[in-house]
Amino acid sequence: MAGNHKPHLAALSLPARHNEIMKNMRTQFSFLNLTQIKTELVAVLAADTQTGKAPDAKPQPVLLTADPAIQAAAADVLASGEFKAGANETALLHAPAGLAAKRLLLVGLGKQTKATAHSVRSAAGTAVRFIKPRGIRELVIALPDSALPPPGSCARAAVEGAIAGDFDPDTYRSERKDQSTESFTLAAPANADKAALEAAFAEGVILGESQNFARSLVNEPGNKLTPTLLGQRAALMASEVGLGWEVHSTEKLRELEMGAFLSVAQGSAEPPALIVLRYEPKGTTDGPVLGLVGKGITFDSGGISIKPSDKMEEMKTDMAGGAAMLGAMRAIALLKPRVRVIAVICAAENMPSGTAQKPGDVQTAMPFSPDKPGKTIEIINTDAEGRLVLADGLTYARQLGATHLIDAATLTGACVVALGHINAGAFSNDEDTWAKFDAALTISGEKFWRLPLGEEYAELIKSDIGDIKNTGGRHGGAITAAEFLKVFVEDTPWIHLDIAGLAWVEDSKPYIAKGPSGVAVRSILEWVRKYSS
Ligand code: BES
Ligand code: MN
Ligand code: ZN
Repeated sequence: MAGNHKPHLAALSLPARHNEIMKNMRTQFSFLNLTQIKTELVAVLAADTQTGKAPDAKPQPVLLTADPAIQAAAADVLASGEFKAGANETALLHAPAGLAAKRLLLVGLGKQTKATAHSVRSAAGTAVRFIKPRGIRELVIALPDSALPPPGSCARAAVEGAIAGDFDPDTYRSERKDQSTESFTLAAPANADKAALEAAFAEGVILGESQNFARSLVNEPGNKLTPTLLGQRAALMASEVGLGWEVHSTEKLRELEMGAFLSVAQGSAEPPALIVLRYEPKGTTDGPVLGLVGKGITFDSGGISIKPSDKMEEMKTDMAGGAAMLGAMRAIALLKPRVRVIAVICAAENMPSGTAQKPGDVQTAMPFSPDKPGKTIEIINTDAEGRLVLADGLTYARQLGATHLIDAATLTGACVVALGHINAGAFSNDEDTWAKFDAALTISGEKFWRLPLGEEYAELIKSDIGDIKNTGGRHGGAITAAEFLKVFVEDTPWIHLDIAGLAWVEDSKPYIAKGPSGVAVRSILEWVRKYSS
């Protein structure tokens, strides 16, 4: 399948209530006086201004909205000490005096000295998740009077948080109640820089929706999202936003001699999908080409080195890296940075069967050019399959002209052991490329922690029979996996994101549902923008 025609929707096994679930909330700005807005609920933000560290230092919550009517309505609850303005803490007031709104919700940001736009993102998500189960369908949030750092980012963060907060994963519940928020309004003072705020807000809508698009894919079970169906969903999205796309399968993999990718796919009855998306803005015929490579294992059983059955169901999320790249490409197509971008997503199922590869097998990875043979890989563990599909994906992205690479993958349990579910792992072979990603993180608010690479680690994946082996033992497992990828990146500036611990939110939080997180979409988009000419 290739080209720009729309893939037939009826052929897609979309969840029964897909359209309702993907229904986007109406989002808008209001520059009206807050007290005059007639609505179900107005949310205002509050922070704790207490700076004393003594154990008896009481929280000193203050509203970040100076409006006298709002201040008066909240005065009693602030004085009571019941509401401390802790991060994502809420207090609800009905029929607030002097307001046209039916309800006033206070949402805490935590300590004022530490509050940033990222606190506003969570607070907006908290407000949305507060109203959803209460049957309230419209929300107005007041932008704080004084902007928080990074500058100009509160409007964007608020709408990103609201859209992310609106997502729930209960797609296949037959009695599912649609609780989605119909209308979200950000209220700003009449003297605000309207054009700047509206531009930031429009970006936030695109990023929030792109993140939710990635989440909706990660949420799908393996039987409803096979590699072929992931390819169709990618093609549908690409044609909706105007990206070039191609989806290939076994035949093309054979033609390209993608021996590493094919070795994973060979154990499954489901054919693999090689998904290629292209973004080529006019007038960018020279300059960098960014290659976004994603792991798209739609189910990882481990293969012949089969995983224990406990929690194996979580391995439907093993395409989260690929989904992040699809979400980022959607945002790129809509935000239009001036830089060329190619995405390569390697989708397959990792299954045990009579045709599956075996430990001890030797595979030959895709050659970069006809005069250079592909590297040989000794398969030690068939469960280390992500690096195999990525090896060929990275080579292919380079062959298609990528000058800079970024990959995302739920690659190793070792990364989860090292960093838990708080930080994702990140690696890079180039300081300038890393500096751009690090700067992107201050805008996205996502947590990635850079881990080292090095020759001593590379030693651990040398093979006795061939060039390299696909595992380097338990110790330093996230790093030896990254070293494996580095073999295929060669000298291309590159970033590797190991999102194994963050692709799935383990417990629901006040601002986001338990389930797929959409991690890395926002950071990858910001990294891409750093190359815009
Ligand atoms: N998809 C898994 C990694 C993973 C683990 C993702 C936990 C999310 C949560 C990956 O394919 C895998 O199985 N990795 C192995 C590698 C090992 C065999 C060298 C692992 O981490 O155990
Ligand atoms: Mn695996
Ligand atoms: Zn895997």
